[in-house]
Order: sequence, then structure tokens, then C-alpha cells
Amino acid sequence: MPVARRIETMMARSSWIRKMFDEGARLKALHGADKVFDFSLGNPVEEPSERVAAVIREVAADPTPGGHRYMPNAGYPAVREAVAQALAARSGLPFTGAHVVMTVGAGGGLNVVLKALLDPGDEVAIVAPYFAEYLFYIDNHGGAPKIAQAGDRFQVDPAEIERVLSPKTRALILNSPNNPTGVVYTNEALAAVGALLAAKGAEYGRPIWLIMDEPYRKLLYPGFECPDPFGFHDHTILVTSHSKDLNLPGERIGYAAVSPKGLNPAKVVEALTLTNRILGFVNAPALMQKVAARLQDEQPDMTGYRRNRDLLVNGLTEIGYELTPPGGGFYLFPRSPLDDDIAFVDLLKKRNVLVVPGTGFGWPGAFRISFAVETETCEKALPGFRAAFEEARK
Ligand SMILES: Cc1ncc(COP(=O)(O)O)c(C=O)c1O
Repeated sequence: MPVARRIETMMARSSWIRKMFDEGARLKALHGADKVFDFSLGNPVEEPSERVAAVIREVAADPTPGGHRYMPNAGYPAVREAVAQALAARSGLPFTGAHVVMTVGAGGGLNVVLKALLDPGDEVAIVAPYFAEYLFYIDNHGGAPKIAQAGDRFQVDPAEIERVLSPKTRALILNSPNNPTGVVYTNEALAAVGALLAAKGAEYGRPIWLIMDEPYRKLLYPGFECPDPFGFHDHTILVTSHSKDLNLPGERIGYAAVSPKGLNPAKVVEALTLTNRILGFVNAPALMQKVAARLQDEQPDMTGYRRNRDLLVNGLTEIGYELTPPGGGFYLFPRSPLDDDIAFVDLLKKRNVLVVPGTGFGWPGAFRISFAVETETCEKALPGFRAAFEEARK
């Protein structure tokens, strides 16, 4: 066997999303790209805005010597400071650059945080349906996932979180706006979860960290707000990236920020700095750090996402699909008309419509649509969604 057995097993049960993406490539080669409606991957078709593109050009053209060298492993001090100022303005907390570590996207950031927090056998609570990579990230660092179920309309349910907490719980990962459901967690739900974590941490004699994974934070639809995560629990670490809010997923830039109110933030940041280094990231990409520092106030253009969301929510509801309209992000998570979501995804695939079965997110009986695609793709896919629904209901 050329690779480790452990990895071979992981490869075998690896992400449904990738599987569907590969299937999409195959179908496109067979039928032509315009005949395949690929909603499988959360890869924005939107381009970076003109302002983002201009900042990238300016930063890349800066002739100051040393701009491509190694820097402190946590990132450029001025960049960390710029991120901290934005966080301080938003949260009202005394963030400084010393609370921020620049990371290789949110994926890199989550690994850096988990490596810093977990001892072997520590448990990490997550909420199903979950971002499938969490299982791998937790496993990477010797942790064990404990899975709570989402509550009504996919809100986080404090009673379910309580059910999975134990003296071994080191952290809870929450993701809002959520992938795959699009739900934005409410103030009330987060306040209840924060109070629960504080009480249980006191009872168990060590803090339970709240890891807030928020790459979709700025992608909100009218009527929805994303509460600042630092108000709910002292021991909070925010992990985010500019993959989705600046449309730069390939550039791999994000950060982790440790609440100034948590237990010994200086020690935690020192640990994150070390894990960033020894995981082999060393530091976040230099050019992109400088780009991010100048764009903390940039807001995404939601016009295309709003159009796709409304078109699909209305079109699918009219066909008969049951769904909760997303409050943020660019995902829809309708109920599958067949109990067997994998069989239903196959019915869609027969119409060249590619989505991801809920099973891939730990939630069978539903499927995920990523509508970070051209509006035309949404329009042209609706007949396929209708035909598959009708076949399922026969
Ligand atoms: C919930 C969630 N967390 C983290 C990530 C990782 O994002 P990145 O590493 O591109 O910042 C993603 C990407 O799709 C995501 O959906």
C-alpha cells in the first residue's frame, strides 16, 4: 500500500463535495459545460471587486525591499493591528494586534487552533449538519468529534449542545452563517449557548472554548444580522477568512482572533503562532496579508447572490420542495423528497443537476445547493429540479 491505511480510509469516505465536483467535470466533458448545472462546490463565480483588484495590484507593485521575506509567524504586526482595529470597533473589546494571528484561510486557521487546544482524547462538539472537513480537522489533532443535532429551522439548540458536553470537551465549533444550511444563529440562541459553556466550564474546572467559524459573516440577506461572537462567551476564538467576502478563496488568507476576555490570551496566541509554524504554514501569504489589512471595511456585493437565492427559493418552493430560506452565505439545504438523499441526488444527476447529499454533512434526508454560480445556471436547472421531484413523488 503506497499510503497510510488511515489516509486510505479517509480517502474512501472523503468529501461528497469533491466527488460531485469530479462528477461535474466528467458530465461537462460528455455533454458540454452549458448543459450541466453544477451546484456542488462553494467556489464563488463572482470576481474580486474593482477595489480589491486595485489593492492587489498596488501591493504587488510595491518596490519596498523585503516584501517577500519571512516575517513573524503570526503575521506582519501592522496587518494584525489593522485586523484588531476592525474587531475592536465591531465588538467594543480592547483588541490589539497581539490578539490576532494571520492564517492560511479559515481551514488553516481551524487547524492551527485545534492543534493548539487539543490533547489526545479531547472532545470537540460540532452541530449537524456540519461542514464535513471539521471531522478531518478534529482528527488531525487527536480530538474526537461529538455531534449535536441542529434544532428548529437549523438553529443551534442549547439543549442538544448540553447533551454532548462532557469533562473531556475542549471546544465547541459553531459556524454562522452556516454551511450547509444558510442559517444565521440568533442572539438568543448564542447567548444561551455562551451561558451553557461558561457554566459547564466552571463545573468541569477548565474552560470550554467557543470556536466561531465565520467566513460567511458579511454575506447577509435583507432582514438578517450576524451578532458579534465575542459578546456571548469569554473564551472565544474567531476563525475566518476572506475567501468569500473578498472572493479570494484561492489566495488563502484568513485569521484567528482570541478574545481579550478569555483565559490568558497571550499564551493562547503564542500557542497559535507556534502551531501556524509547525503545521508547515509558517506564516500566511505575505502579499495577501497586506491586501487584507487594507480591505477590512470592504463589503461584498450581494446582488448576484440575492438574485440566485430569490430565484431558487421561489422556484423550488413552487415545485414543492421544503426549505428554510437562507439568512446568509450562498447555500440552500432543502429536504429531499426521498428519504434516501443519495438516491434523490442520483435522480437530479440524471438531469445533469449536481448537488451534494445531506449525508455528506451528517444530515441524511436533505441536500445542499451551492448557489455561488451564474444566475443562468439557476434558471436553467429549475426544469431538472422539477422533473426529479416529480419522479421521486411517483
Ligand atoms: C464553514 C466553513 N469553514 C471553513 C471553510 C474554509 O474556508 P477557507 O479555508 O477557504 O477560508 C469553509 C469553506 O468553504 C467553510 O464553508
